[in-house]
Amino acid sequence: MNHPELAAEVARRRTFAIISHPDAGKTTLTEKLLLYGGAIRQAGSVKARKAARHATSDWMEIEKQRGISVTSSAMQFDYKGGFDQSQIVQEQFRLKNAPGCADGSLGYRINILDTPGHQDFSEDTYRTLVAADSAVMLIDNAKGVEEQTVKLFRVCRLRSIPIFTFINKMDRTGRDPFELMEDIESVLGIRSCPVNWPIGIHGDFKGVYHRDTRLIELYTGGDHGQAQVNVETVSIDDPDCPAKIGQSYYDKLLEDIELLDVAGDAFDMDKILAGQLTPMFFGSATNNFGVEPFLNRFLAYTRPPTPRVAEELGPIAPGDEKFTGFIFKIQANMNPAHRDRLAFMRVCSGVFEKGMTVWHSSSDSRIKLAQPQTFMAQEHESVETAYPGDIIGLFDPGIFRLGDTICTGSPVRYSGIPLFAPEFFCRVSPEDSMKRKQFLKGVSQLSQEGAIQTFKRPNIGREEMIAGVVGVLQMDVLEYRLKGEYGVNITRENLPFRFVRWVVETPRPLDRLRLTSTTAIAEDRAGRPVLMFENEWSIRLACENNEGLVLAETADRMNADELE
Ligand code: G4P
Repeated sequence: MNHPELAAEVARRRTFAIISHPDAGKTTLTEKLLLYGGAIRQAGSVKARKAARHATSDWMEIEKQRGISVTSSAMQFDYKGGFDQSQIVQEQFRLKNAPGCADGSLGYRINILDTPGHQDFSEDTYRTLVAADSAVMLIDNAKGVEEQTVKLFRVCRLRSIPIFTFINKMDRTGRDPFELMEDIESVLGIRSCPVNWPIGIHGDFKGVYHRDTRLIELYTGGDHGQAQVNVETVSIDDPDCPAKIGQSYYDKLLEDIELLDVAGDAFDMDKILAGQLTPMFFGSATNNFGVEPFLNRFLAYTRPPTPRVAEELGPIAPGDEKFTGFIFKIQANMNPAHRDRLAFMRVCSGVFEKGMTVWHSSSDSRIKLAQPQTFMAQEHESVETAYPGDIIGLFDPGIFRLGDTICTGSPVRYSGIPLFAPEFFCRVSPEDSMKRKQFLKGVSQLSQEGAIQTFKRPNIGREEMIAGVVGVLQMDVLEYRLKGEYGVNITRENLPFRFVRWVVETPRPLDRLRLTSTTAIAEDRAGRPVLMFENEWSIRLACENNEGLVLAETADRMNADELE
């Protein structure tokens, strides 16, 4: 089959996730991106839709009670706008090796992967990042880099994906922008390169200066929350500029810019695309300020889908006509009356067509993909065709496993999705010991689905089952689902561990390692040795006191057939 449009469709795709700490403004920014993309006419509808869904759906009780969404999803929309590259006057910002968008008339097709961030933070949030080509790191200007951002950043780092920083809430008093740059470097270990720069912060925000075009976008304040705004711009070289922003702010801006030009990192596309340098933007999502210039530049600078590495075959280019994709998330139907699940697939190469017959890696058989769904901004829609970078929801009668590859033609396997270290641990057991069999079946099923991980301590002298999760709410999900789907009530006993590390290499048997008294030796579901720690200090000590001990924060996922 010949698809002349494939290359153009790949070039215009941008698939990314927004990583942030709760309350930094992710919902607001997402909504504004949809607004500028024309996918919604009035901001506020994403939040409203969330609320409506909670009111009407038969989704699990926990969700309803807490008013949050337990699972993440994807949103797709088209964006015609673009970056007028002729406006770039600064040599260092010229789009030399930036990927660009092949056909301007088509515009971009954007896929935003939602990374749940409140109490519903879970391993799914990390797994979603495996399907993204780049990330937007959203930071509250008053708070700087926060804990959850650090965790998500580390997963992006593992994959060396480009990370673009948006410093939000500039309409409010916040930290000094140089201090924020330092914070990003000291906490995350990545250098930043401001593309625009705020003028007059500390509660008197005047606007941002775009270093690439030498234009200042003036902040007018007021309530622009609901609709797109037309902003006034003035060139920094315009004689009226000092009067427009105030002489003292103008002088300070010139000083800051000089400092950035002389002492700051140059805008280096190779480093950005390799995830070694983060372009930095300032704005205010609620006020729609700085959102559009950010979006335009982000889309122009960041990359379209890139090749993915398949075992044995090596990288497969998205433009390859062979269709390939992989499953990165499986969402169980929380209604116990419906056992069906939704598997989220990321298209990696070729063209996906509805009803196509594909090879499926974990069953090593050919299957027909029924009822595929795509996630448009407003609704789930039935999908006819999809291209690399797109996310498709597949009806799953229980055949898909995380990391499964799906493809046409001869079999290929993409490297699997790793297990990420859980941070909350509970000893779990059935209330009624007669139900142990159902209990074990349920726990095994849920760990296969990726909802939890299980561990045990071989030396503890009695049989135990430790459940480990990335987000604490998953423990409630475990209890709820074991009861609802397997008829088993469980007892939970919290354990004090906060970190688990897989032992990659050890200089001597684990029980002869020099470890703090609170560190436990255990094994994962596949029988691989792990150490469980209560704090980071104990991890550091374990490495310092045992030369040759190599620990890992992630591990390969073993499929059920490999475990038996
Ligand atoms: P999240 O998804 O990252 O958790 O954050 P969300 O968008 O829900 O925003 C968290 C709070 O921060 C919201 O206030 C939101 O209005 C506010 N916010 C987001 N962007 C900006 C900004 O640019 N400037 C200022 N000043 N505030 C911002 P809230 O009071 O919790 O909710 P709401 O009543 O405003 O909806």
